[in-house]
Amino acid sequence: MDKKLLIETLNFRHACKLFDETKKISDDDMNFILESARLAPSSFGMEHCRLLVIKNQEIKKELKPICWNQNQIDSCDSLVVLIAKHKEVSSYEYYHKMFARRGLDEDLTKMYIEKYENYLKNLKSIKCWSEKQCYITASNIMNYSALIGIDSCPIEGFEKQKVETKLGIDEKKESIAILVALGYRANAQSPKIRLDLEDVVTIVY
Ligand SMILES: Cc1cc2nc3c(=O)[nH]c(=O)nc-3n(C[C@H](O)[C@H](O)[C@H](O)COP(=O)(O)O)c2cc1C
Repeated sequence: MDKKLLIETLNFRHACKLFDETKKISDDDMNFILESARLAPSSFGMEHCRLLVIKNQEIKKELKPICWNQNQIDSCDSLVVLIAKHKEVSSYEYYHKMFARRGLDEDLTKMYIEKYENYLKNLKSIKCWSEKQCYITASNIMNYSALIGIDSCPIEGFEKQKVETKLGIDEKKESIAILVALGYRANAQSPKIRLDLEDVVTIVY
């Protein structure tokens, strides 16, 4: 693995503000990106995140005014909506199935379930917890897109309730965590601004 290339990839990834509408993401590239999303880690392996990939231009146009009028929304090739399945991850049927698929013996599965139920009980908000898992998926999407030369923009600037209603998401069951716009940049990216490593890292030996 070429470390220099990987760091170049992370520098290439930026919050793209405008996409070139004439350039389309191939199905092969999109499948690669979605596979990187599917393989993202998640707390207890519950795979909290469901993805809606919007390619339809009319829908993107309708979403734009309720997404702070951001140009990424309707200039991107694909708008990925990351949806937290907060109701499902707290239903016995679902988490039992998710633990059972590990093929562990009955006692161990029971132990995991108890641990999980206890963890859920102590959470301030299951919805919030599930949404956090979606951010990890979003990170995979953006970084693996960059690896194959595809630009992205993470978007939290949207009117949650209105976008959920527009997309037919039942807020009692699910919640949109974040949007990620994907496509090819229309303009050159601005220089990367970051704190120095020593400002953000403390190594304890
Ligand atoms: C969770 C999250 C939400 C963001 N929401 C928006 C957004 O709504 N619109 C936007 O233009 N950029 C958004 N950004 C991009 C950040 O402003 C950007 O990542 C940051 O300024 C660093 O710049 P860079 O990503 O180009 O390196 C968001 C970033 C994150 C991580």
